[in-house]
Amino acid sequence: MSGRNDIALHVRDLHRRFRAGGTEVRAVDGVSIEIPAGRLTVVKGRSGSGKTTLLNILGLLDRPDAGALAYGPVDVLRMSDPDRDRFRRHEIGFVYQTIALVAAMSAAENVDFQMRVAGMKAGERSRRVSECLALVGLEKRMSHFPAEMSGGEQQRVAIARAIAHSPRVIYADEPTAELDTMTGVHIVAIFKRLIEEEGITVVMTTHDPAMMELADNVIEMDGGRVVEHVDDSL
Ligand SMILES: Nc1ncnc2c1ncn2[C@@H]1O[C@H](COP(=O)(O)OP(=O)(O)O)[C@@H](O)[C@H]1O
Ligand SMILES: [Mg+2]
Repeated sequence: MSGRNDIALHVRDLHRRFRAGGTEVRAVDGVSIEIPAGRLTVVKGRSGSGKTTLLNILGLLDRPDAGALAYGPVDVLRMSDPDRDRFRRHEIGFVYQTIALVAAMSAAENVDFQMRVAGMKAGERSRRVSECLALVGLEKRMSHFPAEMSGGEQQRVAIARAIAHSPRVIYADEPTAELDTMTGVHIVAIFKRLIEEEGITVVMTTHDPAMMELADNVIEMDGGRVVEHVDDSL
């Protein structure tokens, strides 16, 4: 569990360029930040400002062209590919804008699947399935299928799935964009509860000012750079 002023991630001078047609896009252009542990960090900024590219690098789905990235003392960019994949499977969870549950699996089976991928044993998993669905307020929906649930409920199952293997950090890329504001606020309230009860660190991108008010730490991006950083948590 993290102490009050711990830093979950140290990010130094990250760069990521894409070549599209004849032109070069600097999607992430020299980002240096520290993400506090056990807090909700929101990354905001207009479309194309580099939020998703940054999140994918932090979440080890993509590699930067230059820069340094450490989870606490662990320099994740110097790891071998298999070590980094293992680190990602165990320490990181993802929630996306488009809710990607498996339609043919119940809520419980969707959550269980994530833990199987992370290599957890069956006995350990069944207790954790109930615990995670209870954390998102869906303990009575264990055997329901995605089609039987609202968008907000499905996103809550996706959150239960993302936390099931007890990751250190959850990345949520516009998780409320397809929900109405009230449902979106409920989703963010669930993240805050997970932070309180499980000590998780959450990094979320959003356009919605209502969500930003709930953040401990707000980073604004523009043109691949951090243009503002308001941290209430340190
Ligand atoms: N795979 C890619 N190939 C080429 N350009 C990309 C790729 N991914 C992102 N970009 C470009 O990088 C910039 C930042 O994109 P992105 O990180 O998706 O921004 P945001 O999530 O803030 O909308 C944009 O100009 C986008 O077009
Ligand atoms: Mg994006």
